[in-house]
Amino acid sequence: MREEILSLKNQAIAQISAAKSTEDLEELRIVYLGRSGKLTELFKKIKTVPGEEKKLVGVLINEAKNALVSLLSEKKNSFKESAREWFDPTIPGIKPPQGHLHLVTKAIDEIAKTFAQIGFVRVRYPEVDWDWFAFEGLNMAKDHPARDVWETFFVEAPAHPRYGQMVYTPHTSSGQIREMQRVKEPPIRMINIAKCYRRQIDASHYPMFHQFEGLVIDKGISIVHLKGTLDYFARNFFGSQRKTRLRPYHFQFTEPSFEVDITCGICMGKGCKVCKEGWLELGGAGMVHPTVLKNGGVDPEKYTGFAFGLGVERTYMMKSGLSVPDIRLLYSSDLKILRQF
Ligand code: PHE
Repeated sequence: MREEILSLKNQAIAQISAAKSTEDLEELRIVYLGRSGKLTELFKKIKTVPGEEKKLVGVLINEAKNALVSLLSEKKNSFKESAREWFDPTIPGIKPPQGHLHLVTKAIDEIAKTFAQIGFVRVRYPEVDWDWFAFEGLNMAKDHPARDVWETFFVEAPAHPRYGQMVYTPHTSSGQIREMQRVKEPPIRMINIAKCYRRQIDASHYPMFHQFEGLVIDKGISIVHLKGTLDYFARNFFGSQRKTRLRPYHFQFTEPSFEVDITCGICMGKGCKVCKEGWLELGGAGMVHPTVLKNGGVDPEKYTGFAFGLGVERTYMMKSGLSVPDIRLLYSSDLKILRQF
């Protein structure tokens, strides 16, 4: 029996060493170690071996088995090694595709930087907020018709006992009162850049867009400061020749109120096909209404303030050299569009 085991082992080793492919190896594995393989058969014979011998034979067969198993796997690995393609480490690598910031993200960064230079602190407030911050605190009582302008999305959630329903912020003005509550005592110089939501969609409107809201409250703040700030922004963001204009308007939360226009970047204010009269509208502004100051816990006898709210996408598209015919393209995730900026 002992000789039988040894010669079987040697025979197997010789054959495995001479194998030429992984298929050969698999065949040999079955011949020797398969369910009715030669070595397996020897295992079955152990029980016929008399007493003392039995143990020794068992050990020998096991050794033979282990030797064959490790030789098979060694050999298999050596086939894999040589099958691997030759690799030239001097070939330049393939660059991973590189992205860049989205156009709107860039616009937001630029706007924030421009205002940071004149001391405006960038803040963020919730993207869903209570009705009170979006409307009521801004001097628009429940059912006030002025609310219709902000075609609002409501969140299906239990109403706040004091602040009312939850809404997707329809403008960044909802941050005005939050900022007054945060700072408590002016001076305030805030720039709040955030997502806004309204139920409207066409070439120049998208249900989600961005606004930047400036709020300045201190002693003796007047319209002159508002105009100066907007002119500073226009010069630094659009270029030195661009000017702004305030046109009388109405908002419930400012008095007086204005719409902010900027000279057209194509004709520089002379009038052309794009702008017609030389001016393009950027957004709204005004002197903070005393009721709003009171709602924010600021004493209107002591302090005055101005606020403006402008559209980020709209503003960025008015930078000369940019022409995006449809605002929806910005959010289409179409790389052909996005790669151009
Ligand atoms: N919140 C106004 C809007 O969305 C703009 C605005 C902001 C007007 C601040 C006046 C003061 O249209």
